[in-house]
Formats: sequence, structure tokens, C-alpha cells
Amino acid sequence: MIEIRPAVPSDAPRLAQLRWEFRAGRDAPAEEHDAFVDRCAAWMAMQLTSGAWRAWVADENGVIVGHVWLHVISKIPNPVGERDRHAYISNVYVIPSSRGGVGARLLQSALDWASANHVDRIVLWPTTRSRSLYFRYGFTPNGDVLERTCS
Ligand SMILES: CC(C)(COP(=O)(O)OP(=O)(O)OC[C@H]1O[C@@H](n2cnc3c(N)ncnc32)[C@H](O)[C@@H]1OP(=O)(O)O)[C@@H](O)C(=O)NCCC(=O)NCCS
Repeated sequence: MIEIRPAVPSDAPRLAQLRWEFRAGRDAPAEEHDAFVDRCAAWMAMQLTSGAWRAWVADENGVIVGHVWLHVISKIPNPVGERDRHAYISNVYVIPSSRGGVGARLLQSALDWASANHVDRIVLWPTTRSRSLYFRYGFTPNGDVLERTCS
């Protein structure tokens, strides 16, 4: 049975390992596994403790098999009644053996939190293969957004 729950700082070492599996599985790593997992776990524990980022995990009988991360971007206060925050969703990942509906449940948890917490718009950068998942949950390409890659 897989339960979706908010991440807590003590989840960080496992979540850092999943981060390695996701990213090092797609591109050649520029860092050694152990050094990266230590660095990433410290970062994740700090973000979850401060609340700068929040995450939800898929917990399969005590083993975390997937996660999604959300960072709130504060908007400058405005007087016109718009919701005053944006959000950035990242690191949507489920281990291959647990896939099949779990990614959608993780995404739904993040979207529910955003709806209940004054978030106006959510941005993310999908992989080509995952675009269909996000489209099913109401994400659309937005021709208004300008993006610049920094060198
Ligand atoms: C994306 C991912 C979390 C979905 O997990 P899941 O439990 O299979 O999700 P669901 O069954 O709820 O959703 C299925 C959708 O996931 C996406 N998906 C399926 N396999 C995928 C893969 N290997 N890589 C990326 N996305 C995938 C597709 O959008 C799929 O919908 P479709 O079959 O109708 O096209 C999972 O496939 C994964 O971890 N992929 C690798 C990491 C990744 O690419 N994440 C997206 C980053 S933006």
C-alpha cells in the first residue's frame, strides 16, 4: 500500500538518493555519488526545516518510493485581489517498480496544497515524456512567459 504524506526533514537522506537516481539516470554526473547524496540531503533537510521548499512523498510500507517538491515564489503585494504567490514544482520522481498512478497522486497533493495556500500560478519544466501527465492536471504551455538561460 502506498501512502502520500508530507515530507519531513528526516526523510532527506532517502530523498537525496532518489534525486541521484533521477538525475544521474538522465545525464552523466559531474559529482561522486556519496558526495552528492550528502550535499543534497543536507540541502533538503534545511529546506524542509525552514519551509522554503515543501515536498510530498510516496511511502510504500515504510520505504519512500517517490516525491514531488514545491517552492513558493512570493509576488509583490497587489491591490487588485489576485492571489499573492506563485509556485514552482520540481523533482517529480517515482522509482520504476512503483510507477502507475503514484506520480499523479503526488502531483495532486502538491496542487491541493497550492489551491489552499494562495498560489496563483504554478510553473514547471516537464520532460518530453511527462508532458501528458501535466496536461491532464490542467497545465498548459503559456506563450507569455519569457525564459533566459544564464551563462
Ligand atoms: C513522471 C513519473 C513521476 C510518473 O509516475 P507514474 O506513477 O508512472 O505516474 P502516473 O501513472 O500517475 O502517470 C503516467 C504519466 O507519467 C508520465 N510518464 C510515464 N513514464 C514516464 C517516464 N519514463 N518518464 C517521464 N514521464 C513518464 C506520462 O505523462 C504518463 O502519462 P501517459 O502514459 O498517459 O503518457 C515517473 O514516470 C517518473 O519518475 N519518471 C522519471 C522522472 C521524470 O521524468 N519526472 C518528470 C520530471 S518533469
